Order: sequence, then structure tokens, then C-alpha cells
Amino acid sequence: MRTLRPSALLLLVLALPLTQNCAVHQASPGPRSGSQCASSPGSHWLQFFDTVVYGPDIWEPRCIYVSYVDTTPVQGFDSTAATVSVQPRAPWMEQEPPEYWHNLTEEALYQSQSDRKLFRALMKYYGHSKDSEYHTLQKVYGCAVGNNGNFLRGYYQLTYYGYDYIALNEDLSSWTAEGKLAQIFKSVWVEEAEYLRTYLPGDCVKMLRRCLDLGKETLLRSDPPQTYVTRQVRPGGNVTLKCWALNFYPAEITLTWQKAGNNHTQDMEVIETRPAGDGTFQKWAAVVVPSGEELRYTCHVNHEGFPEPLILTWEPPPPNIFLMAIPTGLVLGALVMGAVVTFLIWKKQRARHPPRVTSKAPDFSSHT
Ligand SMILES: *[C@@H]1O[C@H](CO)[C@@H](O)[C@H](O)[C@H]1NC(C)=O
Ligand SMILES: *[C@@H]1O[C@H](CO)[C@@H](O)[C@H](O)[C@H]1NC(C)=O
Ligand SMILES: *[C@@H]1O[C@H](CO)[C@@H](O)[C@H](O)[C@H]1NC(C)=O
Repeated sequence: MRTLRPSALLLLVLALPLTQNCAVHQASPGPRSGSQCASSPGSHWLQFFDTVVYGPDIWEPRCIYVSYVDTTPVQGFDSTAATVSVQPRAPWMEQEPPEYWHNLTEEALYQSQSDRKLFRALMKYYGHSKDSEYHTLQKVYGCAVGNNGNFLRGYYQLTYYGYDYIALNEDLSSWTAEGKLAQIFKSVWVEEAEYLRTYLPGDCVKMLRRCLDLGKETLLRSDPPQTYVTRQVRPGGNVTLKCWALNFYPAEITLTWQKAGNNHTQDMEVIETRPAGDGTFQKWAAVVVPSGEELRYTCHVNHEGFPEPLILTWEPPPPNIFLMAIPTGLVLGALVMGAVVTFLIWKKQRARHPPRVTSKAPDFSSHT
């Protein structure tokens, strides 16, 4: 068995899936924006991130398949793992019977064969060699259900990384393609769309509902964010107000700054929602405001964990408790020190001039 040196590209590929629904779409040159794949409240996604990578020191195209429900990995397959099988990636998926994993493994093995075939065909068509560079094929696809568990939408996109992509349109019948890919497998794409049109609203949704049931305590929980506003003085005298939301789940959240009831979007800097690494998420939004006008700005936080949007302002710090504590501490310290010193002096004097009472021990011997 060959051991594979981890390559930077491979690590990148493994790190790709993903902090957010459809993050691949945002990163890839595809036609979809994140919003097309964004979650509406109460909706859930099952998404598949299938990657094939090949290049120097990889013996045969390596297939890595990972499925996510929303932002949680649920099952995965790696063709170079010690035991080549689909494995649970979430503890609650272990409730599935061995037969479930056996069936999925069969499918994954079959799929890896056809993915490799496709990959080799693409390399040949593009005139790529495995000896000079790494090449990556990525398929991302998935289905979403709404609040009621019914199919909302599905998508599928195949990318030959760094080159072309082909994506199934929302009608699940036609394709949008960039570059040569569409021409290469014209008849294949017609068949593929036919298959996906049945699969995405069918078996995909079935699997998603099953996952949501098994993992409901994790997947359907709702942890509202911890929120606060920080203030930082900028060179020149304006201040930055930053509105923080931490430790929340699910990832969907909106943070907006308002001034006198109007959105303050054009000057607002807001970061992508990012994973904290413990299954929760973080985000902040910042505005630059003139010093002294801090209290005219409000931060509005909307998360399903809140019954209604939370409104925050910067809170001027209360008189500094720590600074106030110092004089108190000094006084107390002096008192304690004084008491200790007094006691020591007293003790020392006592040792030098022991009280007479103790020196005059009663003399019992005289009674015997
Ligand atoms: C596994 O596959 C067999 C045959 O296709 C099918 O009858 C069975 O229901 C499947 N079991 C599970 C748990 O998916
Ligand atoms: C401070 O903010 C005001 C508007 O909010 C802007 O016109 C001004 O240029 C800023 N000053 C500095 C030094 O950034
Ligand atoms: C402010 O923006 C949010 C979303 O960006 C929008 O939902 C809301 O209606 C806007 N409010 C006002 C007062 O414009």
C-alpha cells in the first residue's frame, strides 16, 4: 500500500466543505450566487460534496465524498481510507443499521468508478497530464426541504477545477455551462438531468428527512447569539462601533446597523458568518461614526433563537470598577498589614517578656 504525502491542494480540497450552505458556489465561478442557495427560515439542506483529485504521487484518482445536513457533516467516504466504506460523521448517524452503510458503500464504490472514468476522459480531452499538476473534479448537489418537510429546491453543479463547470438550472431539466464541458458529454447531460429530476425531490429528500429525525436534537436546536457592541477610536477621531454575535446556531442571522430608524448599510462592514469550531457560529458588523454620536446608532440582530429582533446600542462603560477597587484595596491591604504587624510585634514582645501567669506554673509536686 502506498502512503500518500498530503499535498497542499488535497488539504485545501478536504477543507472546502464547508462553513455555509453553498459556499462552493460562492467560491466557484458558477452562475449561482449564495442567495439562490440560501436557507429560508425553517428550511434545511442535504448537500453532497464529491471531490476527485489526481496528480503527482497519487496512484489513482482519489475520491472523497462528504454529505452535510445544513452545516453538519453526516457521512463520508474516502477511497484511500484504510477501510473503504461510507462512515458516519455525526454520532447520531450511528443509529443507522449496518445494511444502510453497506448499501451506501456499494453506491459509493460504483460512483467512484464512474467518477474516475469521467475524470480520465476530461484530462484526456483537456490534454492534462497527472505528472505535472494536480487536477480536481468537484460535484456539489443537494436538496432542500421547507418547514413542512416538503421539497423546496435542488441543485447540481460539476466543476473541473480551474477550468469549466456545468450546472443544472432551477427547472431541473436544462443546463448552464461554461467552456467545453457542455459539448463534451451532450447526451450524458440529458440523461443526468432526467436522473436528478427524480433523485433530488425523491431519495435525496427522503434521506434528508431521515437525518433530520435522527439528529433532531443537534440539527433542529436553536442557540441564540450572545451579543454586544464594542467601540474603538480611529485615527482622526471617528469611532468604530462593532456589533458582535457569538455562539449561535443555526448559521442564518442578520446583523444591521440603523441610525434613527434607517438602515446604515452603505458604510457597514460585515463579515461572512464563520464557524467557531464547536458547531456554533460567529459574525460581526461594524460602522464608523463620529465620536459622541455613538448612542444614535442601533444594532439589530435577527436570529431564530430570538422571539423578535434584538436591538443593541453601545453601552458606555460604568465608572471603572477596577480603578475604584484599587484605593479600596489599598486601604483594606493597609488595615490587614497593620493588623498583622501589630500582632507580630505583640507576639515578639510576649516572647521576650512572657506574661507572668504562664511562667508561674502551679507546682503540683509540693502536694505529693
Ligand atoms: C439496501 O438495499 C436493498 C437492495 O437494494 C434494499 O432492499 C434495502 O431496503 C436497502 N436497505 C437500506 C437500509 O437502505
Ligand atoms: C469621520 O466620519 C465622517 C462622516 O461620518 C467623515 O466625513 C469624516 O471624513 C471622518 N473623519 C475621519 C478622520 O475619518
Ligand atoms: C433594513 O435592511 C433589512 C435587511 O437588510 C430589511 O429587512 C429592512 O426592511 C430594512 N429596514 C429599513 C427600515 O429600511
